[in-house]
Amino acid sequence: MDFFSSLLGMKMFSYEDIVENLAEGVVGVDLDLNVTVFNQSAEKISGISRSLVMGRPVKEVFRRNVRITEMLEGTLRQGRLFAEYEEKLTTRFYGTLPVGITTSQVFDNDGNLSGAVALVKDLSGIKSLEAGSLRKERLAYIGTFAASLAHEIKNPLSGIRGAAQLLSKKVKGDGLGEYLNVIMKEADRLNVIVNDMLDFARPAKLNKIDLNIHRVLDSVLLLLQEGIPGPFVKAYDPSLPPISGDEAQLTQVFLNLVKNAKEAVGKDGSIQIMTRILTEFHIIEGGAKAGGKMVAVEIKDNGCGIRPEDIEKIFTPFFTTKPRGSGLGMAISLKIVKEHNGHLKIDSTPGRGTMVSVYLPIAGA
Ligand SMILES: Nc1ncnc2c1ncn2[C@@H]1O[C@H](COP(=O)(O)OP(=O)(O)OP(=O)(O)O)[C@@H](O)[C@H]1O
Ligand SMILES: [Mg+2]
Repeated sequence: MDFFSSLLGMKMFSYEDIVENLAEGVVGVDLDLNVTVFNQSAEKISGISRSLVMGRPVKEVFRRNVRITEMLEGTLRQGRLFAEYEEKLTTRFYGTLPVGITTSQVFDNDGNLSGAVALVKDLSGIKSLEAGSLRKERLAYIGTFAASLAHEIKNPLSGIRGAAQLLSKKVKGDGLGEYLNVIMKEADRLNVIVNDMLDFARPAKLNKIDLNIHRVLDSVLLLLQEGIPGPFVKAYDPSLPPISGDEAQLTQVFLNLVKNAKEAVGKDGSIQIMTRILTEFHIIEGGAKAGGKMVAVEIKDNGCGIRPEDIEKIFTPFFTTKPRGSGLGMAISLKIVKEHNGHLKIDSTPGRGTMVSVYLPIAGA
């Protein structure tokens, strides 16, 4: 086969094909900043269909991402170039996505400026590797979903409860009040779950102060003391420095964790609460910051333990092994601890017990 026939047999592809198949999103604009190129990956990353954007002003297409427009405009008008510029892109389906944006000017065959182009690289894979958690992304997605669902549920729910309450006043003495009580009680229970869901989904505003974690723990233990067979065993390190944290949110974390321990031990169990300072020589799963001093709070129970195949799942919202559990306690706790730049670790042996360790950065570290 000679050179030309081999060329004829070869399948040719165009520049368009290359652009179309790039892993990076390609967004091209003309001199008026109207979109002229929008490849498959751009559709995927932004969640916007190409048919809706072609010919439209890039400013409108990326209404929620002003930076992209500014960058393209700067590139086009002032020749400013951006290389792998890290941005957070607000997308339709994935929440905000970390991306790297590279821009350049585009010239036609005669060397005249004809537009600008932005390459948008999805960095979420790299970022989540960095953060050591794909889980986070999944939770962010579930969180947004849960928030909208919870909102939709709240109004009809309060309607149901209100109606049941009115009705219960009317039917007094009919022996029907019992049923209405059930309706009201179950509505209240649903309301608690919905509020938990909203808590979980809402981006937290941390009100961080220098906090004595022993005070937080004591208030939790006081609340949960009732019905416990033996008292809680406390092993506090008296020299523990204050941590930097949000009192209300951390109270919620330890309420969840100690409540779980209580539910795991049953009648004749014991629960130990220990605190200590962690030096940089200790290695925490997930990697503590080198040199960053942390405080460790350990909650150890000799309860039922967690099956190895369930360990990963217990942080997933709604995973529960309890008949009346909502399965949100651990998910919420992990979220709060992470927001404090802390870590949460589980060691558990089925039939023997569980130790949950919470690591929190000390104040001023
Ligand atoms: N200390 C523990 N001992 C044994 N199992 C535990 C412990 N902590 C958590 N788990 C397991 O993890 C699951 C999820 O816990 P999580 O606190 O998220 O939800 P829950 O306790 O089931 O319900 P909720 O806390 O919403 O009432 C529990 O159902 C249980 O199976
Ligand atoms: Mg729980």
